[in-house]
Amino acid sequence: MQSEKLPLMGLGYVGIGAPDPETWHSFATDVCGLMPAPIPPVQSATAPLLPKPNSDGSGDDGSLFFKMDDRQWRLAIHPAETPGMQYFGLELATLRAVDQALETLASNGVEARPGTPEECRARGVQAMAVTQDPIGSRVELFASPIRDKGFVSPHGVEFKTGPLGMGHVFLMAPDIPVTLDFYMRILGFERTDYMNFAPGSSVQFLRCTPRHHSVGLLCVGPARGLQHMMFEVTSIDEVGLTLDRAMAAGVKITTSLGRHRNDGTFSFYMEGPGGFDIEIGCHGVLIDENWVEHEFAGDGDDWGHHGLGGESMVRDVNLQED
Ligand SMILES: [Fe+2]
Repeated sequence: MQSEKLPLMGLGYVGIGAPDPETWHSFATDVCGLMPAPIPPVQSATAPLLPKPNSDGSGDDGSLFFKMDDRQWRLAIHPAETPGMQYFGLELATLRAVDQALETLASNGVEARPGTPEECRARGVQAMAVTQDPIGSRVELFASPIRDKGFVSPHGVEFKTGPLGMGHVFLMAPDIPVTLDFYMRILGFERTDYMNFAPGSSVQFLRCTPRHHSVGLLCVGPARGLQHMMFEVTSIDEVGLTLDRAMAAGVKITTSLGRHRNDGTFSFYMEGPGGFDIEIGCHGVLIDENWVEHEFAGDGDDWGHHGLGGESMVRDVNLQED
């Protein structure tokens, strides 16, 4: 069914489950340069009767929230027995678009429901549609998030966000055609480019803003779930300084510095506390209306990024299947 395109504004937030959320604190702040969110959303002005925040910015249940710009938060770490991504939010430009998203999903036979008032308060948004992608990821299409001032990175990092969203998530998707149908035909993402490694094995880059991709899909067998998450900073120095802090903190660098051939991003990858990778990069290409989708063949990088490729993907598949 043909319907009006959803006004998507990129990746809005990501929620991670962790057996010990505290393990994320120093990684998020001291390595990545994120700032503890001073007011967890559930305790915001929209819910004045709820308890006051703890002084370290953590929620009553031990959840940690981190900010990277004028949004109240962008990354949440929730106590959970099983580590891994619990949800991610895709931002919609208007409140009306939340209803539109619900209608679009329903008319395509995809289960979706409005977020409850409690869920919306917990995210600090006015409204959202909750659904699930074919991989099993909980996707929240939300509008009107709380904004606040006062983002000060503990390490002077400036994140490239605004109309591009907070970066990207890269998801392992065992069934690419079905997953592409969900993100492209139903939600309205466009494919920027893609690479085929072998029959049934590919990587797909999907955009909904000028950012080269807000969602990436990687098919390498039956593995599913978050493979990596990317934060974009504004300079090569910030990438290098983050790498220095990661090495000083003993964080495992999984992929060396390098430049991706398709999106031009200068980046490195490190293993975060959740077992999946965090990519820190800059200078990603911006896409305009004249862009033509391409297949990329051969090596995916102009230089560097040693460690990325078959070996690391197999490692990730093994991690997921254990
Ligand atoms: Fe990436």
